[in-house]
Amino acid sequence: MNATQEQLKLKLAQALVAAFGADYTGVDPILVTASNPKFGDFQANVALSLSKKLGMQPRAIASAIVEKLDISDICEPPEIAGPGFINLKLQTSYLEAQLNAIKADSRLGVPTAKNPQKEIVDFSSPNIAKEMHVGHLRSTIIGDCIARILEFRGHDVLRLNHVGDWGTQFGMLITYLREVYPEALTTANALDIGDLVSFYRQAKQRFDADAAFQETARQEVVRLQAGAEDTLHAWKLLCEQSRKEFQIIYDLLDIKLIERGESFYNSFLPVVVEDLETAGLVKENQGAKCVFLDGFTNREGEPLPLIVQKSDGGYNYATTDLAALRYRIQEDQAKRIIYVTDEGQANHFSQFLQVAKKANWIPDDVKIVHVPFGLVLGEDGKKFKTRSGDTVRLRDLLDEAVSRTRADLEARLKEEGREETEEFINNVANVVGISAVKYADLSQNRTSNYVFSYDKMLSLKGNTAPYMIYAYVRTQGISREGNIDFANLGDNAEIVLREETEFTLAKHLLQLDEVIGEVEQDLLPNRLCDYLYNLSDKFNKFYENCPVLKSEEPVRTSRLMLCDLTARTLKLGLDLLGINVLERM
Ligand code: ARG
Repeated sequence: MNATQEQLKLKLAQALVAAFGADYTGVDPILVTASNPKFGDFQANVALSLSKKLGMQPRAIASAIVEKLDISDICEPPEIAGPGFINLKLQTSYLEAQLNAIKADSRLGVPTAKNPQKEIVDFSSPNIAKEMHVGHLRSTIIGDCIARILEFRGHDVLRLNHVGDWGTQFGMLITYLREVYPEALTTANALDIGDLVSFYRQAKQRFDADAAFQETARQEVVRLQAGAEDTLHAWKLLCEQSRKEFQIIYDLLDIKLIERGESFYNSFLPVVVEDLETAGLVKENQGAKCVFLDGFTNREGEPLPLIVQKSDGGYNYATTDLAALRYRIQEDQAKRIIYVTDEGQANHFSQFLQVAKKANWIPDDVKIVHVPFGLVLGEDGKKFKTRSGDTVRLRDLLDEAVSRTRADLEARLKEEGREETEEFINNVANVVGISAVKYADLSQNRTSNYVFSYDKMLSLKGNTAPYMIYAYVRTQGISREGNIDFANLGDNAEIVLREETEFTLAKHLLQLDEVIGEVEQDLLPNRLCDYLYNLSDKFNKFYENCPVLKSEEPVRTSRLMLCDLTARTLKLGLDLLGINVLERM
């Protein structure tokens, strides 16, 4: 609900009390968007719902309310329609004044949050020495967008990369590292073992085939946990190598985040278990320390335990998340903690959060939100894979998006007989290619699976990044064609609305605030994508119907301002999605 709707709702509620007395305080006027724009912008349906209680005809109730309703500064005189709807139509002068106000505002009418707070977005979070796969790509893109929106609203956002940098797999990796790169462990130099993923695979093969190797690996885990210097050194080398590879992806995607991996919480793990024991929540089960969960059962229908300490004394993913949760609440003072992972982890989150709640670790004013997302599918509808059936390397995936964009662009330039510099082509290919991947992800409702299709995401038509960026380019084309500086249309220049398509565009421009508020609440970036897509569509209709540069003043300047407002809204909205615009493409 935007500010205008809030105001109308309030005035309607007041009129209701004025008409029928204080008993009707707090009755919802049931204000909704008009079912058909022909009837105006909004309609209030309260008269119909009160008919029985008041023992009056709904139309008579509606007239009594309208009689007391003072909204002459916002709407045309209200009309009563059908069985008793109150139809409201915004006044042209009101819309014009609203647009004139946002045009001077760099935030385009979106206020900062009334109560800015500390928010943590836990996203991306790949695992060291393992593949950063399309699931991590989704988490990275969605998490970054959520963080951007919260930052824009003025919250203090901590972007955390909960990297999987601890665990028993390091025993195997370090043992293998000692075998194949013994020199790396004795020199201070950084190590280049090439592709870490194939290194992991080879280590795993050794591990699976050789019992002696397994035993050494187990000892290596113990040494790591005890903090043995040479083992720690090896561990750091592996992390460093992974980090470099992750950073390549973050640079390509323009992602900023702070690494605070699982290992960060090591020293807090024993206390977590101790505190759970003190709270009387821990039971021993075959040597492991467990917390039994409500609502989760195994196949035999017996209550399911969450293991917080294994029988060998080691801790696990859930224990670490419990420690991280406490740290984020106590040390970071977070008021909302948002976890962006695939839906497959939903149980993990509800389980460790249930334990945290039982232990009373989550204060009432702290919200914990798991933001789950679906799978990325190939065009065959199965899990996204390369032709040979391997997982797709993210770098290859992004490179391919860029090179396909470049090929499309070069073909288009040829067709249009345009000559552009290599630098221009590179820049457009990079911006559009990367944006296409991001937008394809963000424009889907994140809870559903989506099909990864280069053809679709790179198309200049439809709900795609190229289409959106092109709409922006079009607005800038108008400024170039008319040799007009949008930023310099004059402080006194005013927006005047005449044509239907101008009204439609104007009303949509005024809804940005509402949409951002929704995304901030529901953490569904696709709503912002839909909004921007509709904006481009409404802009195109306006542009087809209303001459801009060729019209007379004051309409000409007003229309130029509508172009500018559209451009700024697109630019801001796309920026919140992590997408850059181009002046030309
Ligand atoms: N490293 C995990 C994975 O790759 C994701 C971690 C998500 N964050 C968390 N606090 N559990 O699946």
